[in-house]
Amino acid sequence: MSESGELKRRPAAIIVLAAGQGTRMKSAKPKVLHTILGLPLVEHVLRATFPLDATNTVVVVGHGRDEVVAQLKQTYPDVKIVIQEEQNGTGHAVAIALETLPEITGSVLVLAGDTPLLTTEDMARTINAQEGHAAAVLTANLVDPTGYGRIVRGSSNDVEEIVEHRDATELQKEITEVNSGVYAFDAKSLSEALGEVDTKNSQGERYLTDVLAILRAKGKNVNGVTTSEENILGVNDRRQLAAAGAVLRTRIADEWMLAGVTMVDPSSVWIDRTVTLEADVTLLPNVQLSGTTSIYAGATVGPDCTLTDTVVESGASVIRTTANGAHIGADATVGPFTYLRPGTVLGAGAKAGGFVEMKNSVLGAGAKVPHLSYVGDATIGEGSNIGAATVFVNYDGVAKHHTEVGKHVRIGSDTMLVAPLKIGDGAYTAAGSVITEDVPAGSMAVGRARQRNIVDWVLRRRPGSDSAQAALADSSNKNSK
Ligand code: UD1
Ligand code: CA
Repeated sequence: MSESGELKRRPAAIIVLAAGQGTRMKSAKPKVLHTILGLPLVEHVLRATFPLDATNTVVVVGHGRDEVVAQLKQTYPDVKIVIQEEQNGTGHAVAIALETLPEITGSVLVLAGDTPLLTTEDMARTINAQEGHAAAVLTANLVDPTGYGRIVRGSSNDVEEIVEHRDATELQKEITEVNSGVYAFDAKSLSEALGEVDTKNSQGERYLTDVLAILRAKGKNVNGVTTSEENILGVNDRRQLAAAGAVLRTRIADEWMLAGVTMVDPSSVWIDRTVTLEADVTLLPNVQLSGTTSIYAGATVGPDCTLTDTVVESGASVIRTTANGAHIGADATVGPFTYLRPGTVLGAGAKAGGFVEMKNSVLGAGAKVPHLSYVGDATIGEGSNIGAATVFVNYDGVAKHHTEVGKHVRIGSDTMLVAPLKIGDGAYTAAGSVITEDVPAGSMAVGRARQRNIVDWVLRRRPGSDSAQAALADSSNKNSK
């Protein structure tokens, strides 16, 4: 058994089998497109193959092919796709993949598209183990091997054959070493042996596993290399989908902690495979980071944040926030209870405070929206302050309009800024104003009704009430004398 995970030679081809239906998922979606940690199952497998630098990568698709092909073409345009019209077995699937790789020599790695926990190291060890053999199979020892193909080893400890659970004798069923579905083959030996695989089994399918016994019958050797039960976990139903997700969550959190990220409670942190973090990022409890989110050194995120496709620059602090497609500048502060939607850009040291929603808006360096405001389709200059409960009225019922607020502007509390609108540099607006016209630089805009006091209205209209008595008792009221 080869212990080294260092790849000794590049595989000539990698074949990923992903044509099966995945009946037990009970889903309209093809099994391999179900996602964990931000990627479809099949993409976790493909990503793990990249460091192996194979000359060819082929994915065999069948059920839900249109969706699977669309997804793969978009993310992995270099991957070759082969359609298996009818799922006549794993041996048949590999045979039609090989037909697209004529004249191939060297090592061929075969994988399943539903084993997202398989590591690059497992793959490399299988390829290495094939050296000097016609084939090598990756195995694991399971407490409960039910359902898996059993590894039958001979006296020399070489693999003699793989027997499917449903075709196994009672004695063979006691074998706890199982087939992971990962193999490395010598290309020539594989294509020769595949030609001899028949359908004489309980499912009437062409089993890839039969290739091993055929190779042995030809006097060739088959090696077996073992990995952990966890790594070979296949996803067949939604419980296994969740179980694989939980393992991967822990692995990704561990990787980032080893890379210098602090996590107060890693068990409540979900980081998609596609996220990037720098050393000295701090993640507080209950944080979900998705998509292309990236967080720079010295930033603190959490508690209770969901960030999707969002950038958080150095030193920023983001608390109890949902952000999607936002860019949070260095030393900016966000939250709590803040909602940043696509196109939000916060400059260095800017602030989006409690109960603030922003969308498609740029907040300049040091500018602040501290409380209870909606900012949509706006540009706000550096050093400006937007008073509490201000609304950027961007929608007239038909179209969205833009508001431009200059530098060092003071927008009074509860201002309605009715777009399209331009507020000049250094201007002020009075609290409670509805601003419908542009405000020149340095002006104070007042857009509200003048206040009128109706003297003694309460004494006349609410005589004897608590309010009237309080008014009478107030020494500042001339009628109380
Ligand atoms: C297979 C192995 C079994 C092993 C197990 C590990 C065979 C005959 N048996 O069993 O020894 O323990 O995997 O999980 O190979 N596929 C196709 N086309 C087909 C049939 C299958 O692409 O015609 C794909 C499936 O989508 C799946 C993979 O091949 O990704 C394995 O097929 P599956 O039917 O799940 O095989 P198992 O019964 O699990
Ligand atoms: Ca399976």
